[in-house]
Amino acid sequence: MVLKLFKRQKSPDVVVDEYGRRAVIDIRNITKVYQMGDVEVHALRGVNLRIYEGEFVSIMGPSGSGKSTLMYILGALDQPTSGEYYLDGVDVSKLDEKELANIRNKKIGFVFQSFNLLKRTTALRQVELPLMYGGVPGRSKRAREALEAVGLGKRLNHLPSELSGGQQQRVAIARAIVTEPAMILADEPTGNLDSRSGTEVMQIFQRMNKERGITTVFVTHDPWIARHTERVIMLRDGIVVADRKVANPLMAGETERPSEAEELEGVFQEVYYGGTKEEYN
Ligand SMILES: Nc1ncnc2c1ncn2[C@@H]1O[C@H](COP(=O)(O)OP(=O)(O)OP(=O)(O)O)[C@@H](O)[C@H]1O
Ligand SMILES: [Mg+2]
Repeated sequence: MVLKLFKRQKSPDVVVDEYGRRAVIDIRNITKVYQMGDVEVHALRGVNLRIYEGEFVSIMGPSGSGKSTLMYILGALDQPTSGEYYLDGVDVSKLDEKELANIRNKKIGFVFQSFNLLKRTTALRQVELPLMYGGVPGRSKRAREALEAVGLGKRLNHLPSELSGGQQQRVAIARAIVTEPAMILADEPTGNLDSRSGTEVMQIFQRMNKERGITTVFVTHDPWIARHTERVIMLRDGIVVADRKVANPLMAGETERPSEAEELEGVFQEVYYGGTKEEYN
């Protein structure tokens, strides 16, 4: 019995990168086919990807390129049609429903575009919920600390309808981090936010990544947001078409985004005059 307790689950060779970081995500030739009546939709057509502990990665690509499908598989919310997925060295395809639910609850924090908060539940309660499923003691204190970490220490008893969009998303982030996950998966978390709230939310993700070393995978359509991450993976038609390091990642809030007026000005000059600003000033 005692021996059994110490016997570690045999895992396949966990891949390590040049800095000695373990691959938290290791997917090999993953495909996903949705069956729609007679029609097969090939949402993923052979994706290979490794993401190492502590990385901050964004996934970009046109609408329909398979970003959300990939996130569902990464989050063990859905199984691929073929291919392998090792999450922290564990073969996800070999896990049963109960083990999957356990991994989702303990290892992964999810943040979605639409916040997914319960309407009639206070911020504090929302953040306590994942701890209740896990039967963790000291729930209230931990939930309060998570809300303080995202700057909502004074909004504990507010309902979602009593919070701004940015604040609601911060509640969702507090809910994702309260279980101290190894990884955060976020599908367009700034998609519904104005640029100021988007910056605040980005600041929190960056801080969680730096201070707590939480591996973060982040879907965005916005190249400006992607420049705040360390690595960009580009999907198109269900395959990875580019995978690059961001040369000098921006720190949220430190660099001003070009204003809408400036961007418009640039567009008008190009459309009407076909020249650059310097030529006309
Ligand atoms: N449950 C489903 N059943 C059938 N087809 C689906 C399903 N989910 C996604 N698809 C199809 O799979 C493809 C990839 O969809 P996915 O949602 O992953 O795209 P996406 O890159 O997240 O797009 P967006 O940027 O619009 O969110 C699309 O062609 C979509 O129509
Ligand atoms: Mg999507």
